Amino acid sequence: MKANIVLLPGDGIGPEVTAQAVRVLESIARKFGHDFVFLSKKIGGIAIDETGDALPQDTTDACKKSDAILLGAVGGPKWDDPNAKTRPEAGLLKIRKELGLFANLRPIVTFTELVDASPLKREIIEGTDILFFRELTGGLYFGPSGTEDLPDGQQRAYSTAVYTTSEVERIVRMAAEAARKRRRKLTMVDKANVLEASRLWRRTSARIMKEEFPDLEYEVVLVDSMAMHLLSRPKSFDVVVTSNMFGDILTDEASMLPGSLGMLPSASLGSNGPGLYEPIHGSAPDIAGTGIANPLATILAAAMLLRHSLSLETEAAAIETAVKKVLAQGCRTADLAPKGTPTLGTIAITDKVLESLDKV
Ligand code: IPM
Ligand code: MN
Repeated sequence: MKANIVLLPGDGIGPEVTAQAVRVLESIARKFGHDFVFLSKKIGGIAIDETGDALPQDTTDACKKSDAILLGAVGGPKWDDPNAKTRPEAGLLKIRKELGLFANLRPIVTFTELVDASPLKREIIEGTDILFFRELTGGLYFGPSGTEDLPDGQQRAYSTAVYTTSEVERIVRMAAEAARKRRRKLTMVDKANVLEASRLWRRTSARIMKEEFPDLEYEVVLVDSMAMHLLSRPKSFDVVVTSNMFGDILTDEASMLPGSLGMLPSASLGSNGPGLYEPIHGSAPDIAGTGIANPLATILAAAMLLRHSLSLETEAAAIETAVKKVLAQGCRTADLAPKGTPTLGTIAITDKVLESLDKV
């Protein structure tokens, strides 16, 4: 098949890890007879430096015309000035909104080989397999917000969480459909004891589940209590659905279950059009350019791209198997290796993945 893939390498380690994922995709294309055409565009800090805009129009246009998008990371200390006119993160928020990517899928899977890299106990985390659905284009991130000067010299700032019925319906539906293909359990996380917007989530989600998914086990958990349950009973969760802000926080917490942020991919999907795939780790400016960044999350994001945007399940699974084999062989990047043990750099571990792919 022919596919147009837009690359948004971004900032920090973004370009390094994206380049490695491209090597893997090129190898898949050769092996399975596909034609992947890559087009690289700017987003984030580098786009601000070159154009003054964190998401230049030309990037948006190319993304809209593509079959799928692979993103590295955005942001860094260079653009952290709180008074700056624009920030790299604005580019990411804007592309999510422009492309209608309302569902952010974040799988949290523990690799048996890496259980000891987690700060948590083996018996609690081993076997964890959670799929988060984070709502991505609404809530606190996109509601009315502002800052005003008060007569007494203070400032008053506000951000509001706004959701409509249909915004809740579509993400709950997508999450429940995924649960149906997995272990048939959906957990909805909110703060309905306090927040009005959460009460809309609670009512809407209950109705959708009752009317359309009565065959699924359905559980409702308050977000504060979820922060606790994620660490005490991670294995009891299958699919979890929640709002934008809660999902942002809970998935970072959940990322500690597998031990390293460096292994976790994510997919952002809309109802149609291209999906956007990225590692959930950030731009890691502290190690950018040193050649030690872990590319596996981006390589696994490329696998999600093949699966969700191009329907190439066999190819996606081949990448995932290759990554698992490389871990089983004992190959580790610095973020995964216990102190004092040998490590592989960004390119060397990708070489191992490619070797392993060749044997599939
Ligand atoms: C994420 C990130 C972003 C978010 C930032 C960089 C805007 O933390 O994708 O989780 O908050 O959504
Ligand atoms: Mn985040």
